[in-house]
Amino acid sequence: MKRILVIGSTGQIGSELTLLLRRLYDRDNVVAGYIRGAEPRGELAEGPQALVDVTDAEELAQVVRTYKADTIFNLAALLSVVAERKPRLAWHIGVDGLLSVLDVARENGCAVFTPSSIGAFGPSTPKDKTPQDTIQRPTTIYGISKVTGELLSDYYHLKYGVDTRSVRFPGLISYVTPPGGGTTDYAVDIFHCAARGERFCCPLKAGTYLDMMYMPDALSACVSLMEADPSKLRHRNSFNVTAMSFDPEGIYQAIRQERPGFEMEYKIDEVKQRIADSWPNSLDDSPAREEWGWQPRFDLPSMTKDILERLTT
Ligand code: SER
Repeated sequence: MKRILVIGSTGQIGSELTLLLRRLYDRDNVVAGYIRGAEPRGELAEGPQALVDVTDAEELAQVVRTYKADTIFNLAALLSVVAERKPRLAWHIGVDGLLSVLDVARENGCAVFTPSSIGAFGPSTPKDKTPQDTIQRPTTIYGISKVTGELLSDYYHLKYGVDTRSVRFPGLISYVTPPGGGTTDYAVDIFHCAARGERFCCPLKAGTYLDMMYMPDALSACVSLMEADPSKLRHRNSFNVTAMSFDPEGIYQAIRQERPGFEMEYKIDEVKQRIADSWPNSLDDSPAREEWGWQPRFDLPSMTKDILERLTT
């Protein structure tokens, strides 16, 4: 049975992942790591929890030792839009923080999962069906720290044998926890507007295609990759994974299938548009499918139906 520390357990993916891990590996084996001001609440608070700031290497090492963790889900990060406003902090959390995680993992024999992102690609990357192994010259600090994180994680695996694994997440869509500061957030906000019967103001232009994934699939990607047979993994940091690719018109039309009265207008956010334009339209995730059986369950219509039902009942 694993003993898991989730760093950033109160964030968008962290809270849902922590609850799932507690169901799979027993509540007492999964520690919800949090930073001051983002304490676990509700169901998340009903289990082990620890103050753990990824930028404090000593605190991190102590928590790992105290709970005898053998697996770390390192979810601490600033999303792309916020990172552009706070580049030093984005680097500090994403790269210095990761280095501390990797060192503590090496000393304590822990496996490490650190998400990368579609943001690890840039304008010179092939845009359609972006291959697993391709040009990675991102133009955002978010992407630069993600590429660095991928390389550092591979380095610790090759040099020290640390069991590092990762996926490049697309935009994650959840009706439970709001995101915050991402370029793909519009694809979450639009559902809340539709459920409230409000008109949606879209920050990205029609024709801006991005990969996306419904949260239940994202959670299963984390669990399946960490459970995968290591002898089958030719890649590690980091696997392309995707479930769907759409532009604002695509999601608008999918919502109108369920809510015919729903309306959308455009008010372009230049920062978000510039970031989105530098990212792929769609990823090729066949290595993830072949090496550890990745298979999403939800496409755009099934996700749309599910979210709107849950938000309005
Ligand atoms: N969802 C992230 C963002 O928009 C991309 O990984 O920043």
